[in-house]
Amino acid sequence: TVNDDLQAHLEFFTELGIDGIRLEPEWRRRVAGATAPAEPIEPTEPLEPVRVFASQADALEALRVEIGPDCRLCKLHTLGRKQVVFGVGNPNADLMFVGEAPGADEDIQGEPFVGRAGQLLTKIIEAIGMTRSDVYIANVIKCRPPGNRNPEPDEVERCEPFLFRQIDLIKPKVIVALGKFAAQSLLKTTDPITRLRGREYRFRSAVLMPTFHPAYLLRNPSSKREVWEDMKRVRAILTERAD
Ligand code: URA
Repeated sequence: TVNDDLQAHLEFFTELGIDGIRLEPEWRRRVAGATAPAEPIEPTEPLEPVRVFASQADALEALRVEIGPDCRLCKLHTLGRKQVVFGVGNPNADLMFVGEAPGADEDIQGEPFVGRAGQLLTKIIEAIGMTRSDVYIANVIKCRPPGNRNPEPDEVERCEPFLFRQIDLIKPKVIVALGKFAAQSLLKTTDPITRLRGREYRFRSAVLMPTFHPAYLLRNPSSKREVWEDMKRVRAILTERAD
């Protein structure tokens, strides 16, 4: 009955600590804006469901699938690239290396840093007591520019967000930016690599260390000494922050 409903209602109020009701007419007016406006809610685009992954490896794999084998976001798919070079290594790596773009060997094999420069990078990794499978290796862009030219700004703009998503999934403690292009691109600066290297920057929850590109070291072996200094610092950060 109405009385039972009213009784239940009042008991509920009592439980909430409300022990009286104002009868003055000015208390009966609704406070402007206190309730939702009466307009119908505009229909919106259906939201993408949030995907939750059991592991970083699964999340990275989903990103690889999302990019797909035939990405056409930038013009490089019309300029002779053979395949998308996604990235390789440990999805839980504490240490990540970021180069510029795939070269001819990487374009054929589908893996970053497998050519001559890559073999030197492998030695650099081993010099601090790690292996390629301990770290993660990627590039600023995932497709080979024709004739090994530098990536162009529109190509970086389209592709770099994928690298950022890889970084945010892997959450490395240290990112080594290999060479002028990667360092300048990640740090959004035109400072020369000679100024950038030997310093530490914060980048998306990691410490970013620019160093010389292994291809540069092949032409300028005397600069290996500085890269060794940088790598010793990387090793120190990785061990001091082992938590
Ligand atoms: N140089 C780069 O910057 N990246 C590679 O993957 C290979 C060579």
